[in-house]
Amino acid sequence: MKDLLRTQDLCRADVELLLDTAADFATNPLRSNAALANKSVAIYMTKPSTRTRLSSETAIAHLGGTPIFIRGDELQLGRGETIADTARIISGYCSALIIRTFAQSDVNELGANASIPVINALTDDDHPTQLLADWLTIRERFGKDITGRKFVYLGDGNNISHAWLIMGAIMGAHVVAATPTGAWAPDPRVVESAKRIAAASGGKVEVLHDPEAAAKDASVLYTDVWMSMGDSQDQRDEKVLALSPFSVTENLISLTQKDSVFMHCLPAHRGEEVEASVIDGTKSLIWREAYHRRTTIQSLLYHLLRGDLKGSSH
Ligand code: CP
Ligand code: NVA
Repeated sequence: MKDLLRTQDLCRADVELLLDTAADFATNPLRSNAALANKSVAIYMTKPSTRTRLSSETAIAHLGGTPIFIRGDELQLGRGETIADTARIISGYCSALIIRTFAQSDVNELGANASIPVINALTDDDHPTQLLADWLTIRERFGKDITGRKFVYLGDGNNISHAWLIMGAIMGAHVVAATPTGAWAPDPRVVESAKRIAAASGGKVEVLHDPEAAAKDASVLYTDVWMSMGDSQDQRDEKVLALSPFSVTENLISLTQKDSVFMHCLPAHRGEEVEASVIDGTKSLIWREAYHRRTTIQSLLYHLLRGDLKGSSH
């Protein structure tokens, strides 16, 4: 496996390896501090980022490498140079490329034309590195035996909901996306892929439109912003109205298992997708989850550059 372009590029063994090493990096961040010695990693972002940018830069530093951060408007790509030419040029200087942008097809094209590993750091369709941090956080809390547990995402059927369903399916989990019907439901092609993966892994994938039924007996309630980067502000009122029933409230939490937790990829909007008392309450794992963005990206860079990941043709 050269690149991580989509969550579904990973097989379960890859995820287990990445989480084991990330757990190690959590206690011993400088364990492999020469792995990227004398190497540079480019981070190219056409959308804002707090966690992904900073965790990537610190992960690279902890591995002994040099991050080169490039904003969307700083490359000749914005002036018509092709993605293929850009990929070849960056491959000549750097050891890996981390990219955050809008179209998944642009990330795929970079991967196809770069000779170095390309890592998807969020597109409109997916956010694979986020889900590595999420699953390490889940594993720390519940251990490896997740039999009988239900992992529920509530809100917009966006990039995070897609990655949630696919990663849950890979891990053999019972995963649910509770979303409105229609425009803000997850992409049916992603749901189909998740169901296919779950059929082989022993997992279960459900898309529900009733937030209370989804929350009942859940181990995790997870949510994300209602307006994603790049979403049209013209649709805001209509979208907020449709998503309101999926807000993670104390009432929804009261329906979950006793040992349930709340998760959020962040940034959060208290009073919209989650009540302040929930995200700032005792069940919330958001700080540990955000911390693991660094440990998991560090692990991903480490293993991808060593060629340790098998990948999957899900
Ligand atoms: N969760 C996440 O990707 O955060 P940033 O947008 O701040 O990188
Ligand atoms: N769905 C959000 C995730 C932010 C990490 C977005 O794409 O803006």
